[in-house]
Amino acid sequence: MVADYKNKRKSGYMLSPSILSADFSRLGEELASISAADYVHIDVMDGAFVPNISYGAPVVKGIRPLTEQIFDIHLMIEEPIRYLEDFKNAGADLLCVHSEACRHLDRTITAVHELGCLAGVALNPSTPLDAIKWVLDKVDMVLLMSVNPGFGGQAFIPEVLPKLKELSIMLEERGLADKVDVEVDGGIRLDNVVSVIEAGANVIVAGSAIFGGEASKNVEEFKNIMAGY
Ligand code: DX5
Ligand code: ZN
Repeated sequence: MVADYKNKRKSGYMLSPSILSADFSRLGEELASISAADYVHIDVMDGAFVPNISYGAPVVKGIRPLTEQIFDIHLMIEEPIRYLEDFKNAGADLLCVHSEACRHLDRTITAVHELGCLAGVALNPSTPLDAIKWVLDKVDMVLLMSVNPGFGGQAFIPEVLPKLKELSIMLEERGLADKVDVEVDGGIRLDNVVSVIEAGANVIVAGSAIFGGEASKNVEEFKNIMAGY
């Protein structure tokens, strides 16, 4: 799966629906309804790093046979280095860790790569880009949160727009613009997706805006807008 991801990266704008807002009693059908999307965004929450608990590696393993889509796993957990192997064994393609949750961020990113997964690093809205300055050349993706992580359906924090622009400049200056994906997550809807794309994001996460209605239709509408760029 990682090879597919590498081929797709930076080849356009990718949609990564967050199944946090899906109906868990019929997860198989919900996954089928987003089959036209590029990735599946899987939010793992531990009730410690964020004030909510979602699901863990057994659920990832359970849904892995249902789709060939890339599993984009957003680990909102303290010291994720402890669980990387479990998620890899469950079928992760990309493991994204929060800089705020890792005592040794560089070591954690190396551990993700050693497992054969792609490595992402996420930043909360208030965390400055400086936190990832010295690992930028080691990651495959940077995720900028546009809500405080923990829940779906929250309002978009517009301060992420200048932050996305600053990140794009940083990547350009470091010669990494074609190598590192930029994902944005939280409060993205059909009416603001253009603003995050124009600010520099190329992987778009949307949860409630997709599963809050007819998911397949919403995926199509997002993809149509994104295809225009
Ligand atoms: C928030 C999660 C998000 C969330 C997005 O902590 O990381 O992925 O599910 O949901 P919406 O799109 O509803 O903000
Ligand atoms: Zn997420």
